Amino acid sequence: MSVVKVQSVSKWFPRRDGESLHVLQNIDLDVPEKAIVAIVGASGCGKSTLLNIIAGLVTPDRGCVFLNGVKASAFEDWRSLTYMFQEDRLLPWRTATQNVAFGLEAAGVARPERRERVTETLALVGLSGFADAYPHELSGGMRSRVALARSLVTRPQILLMDEPFSKLDPSIRTQMHDEVLRIKELMGMTIVFVTHDVEEAVVLADKVVVLNPRPGRVRETQEIRLPYPRDPLSPDVAEQARLLRRSL
Ligand SMILES: Nc1ncnc2c1ncn2[C@@H]1O[C@H](COP(=O)(O)OP(=O)(O)OP(=O)(O)O)[C@@H](O)[C@H]1O
Ligand SMILES: [Mg+2]
Repeated sequence: MSVVKVQSVSKWFPRRDGESLHVLQNIDLDVPEKAIVAIVGASGCGKSTLLNIIAGLVTPDRGCVFLNGVKASAFEDWRSLTYMFQEDRLLPWRTATQNVAFGLEAAGVARPERRERVTETLALVGLSGFADAYPHELSGGMRSRVALARSLVTRPQILLMDEPFSKLDPSIRTQMHDEVLRIKELMGMTIVFVTHDVEEAVVLADKVVVLNPRPGRVRETQEIRLPYPRDPLSPDVAEQARLLRRSL
């Protein structure tokens, strides 16, 4: 069964001149359990809008989304889904621990259990020594790890990621890819990963969906059958990326 299924979704946004902007046209997307599906496409082609629709933050004008086989409008288990945004959105006045604990506080998890789960999750992302550091005391890569920990602490089944590592140096980004793959296996998550970087998509995903802009529509879907871990500099990754780039 698909964990995420997008069926014939279309979306228009109203514009100030009274016209409407056709952002997504007839999008179909299937994300099997424990898969990583990457969505790639040029800036403005509707990637974030599609992720927002999957997350229930934006309502489609046509079509629908199913999560674990349940229509999104009737889906209740929203805690099993988390969203990692492009900006890390860490609160500067909270330590790493307090930032990661945020979602658990909101969910009313009691303090002792909160502490235990935050400690465990910071260890999972390799940040045990920085539990009491504030965001300004952390490097870009470390902040990214805190944001990842904050997404993971509620133990989601579905993780939506919107270009979460685009501001990192290539070597740090590769480290984060390894972390995501390791943790995804450990936790058995299903991931939808948005990026405009074709190599990043090939390194991470089982399946890459290419969107073309205006209106955003699926141009191509390609299975990536290379074994993990995938070296971003290997000829196999370069070849897959070259094939995908032709559709962009
Ligand atoms: N809430 C909104 N109201 C009106 N227009 C919007 C809204 N959100 C997005 N848009 C428009 O929809 C189009 C797609 O935006 P979206 O953010 O989904 O693109 P994207 O593929 O994520 O781009 P990027 O790679 O730059 O993040 C853009 O033209 C944008 O201006
Ligand atoms: Mg975007």
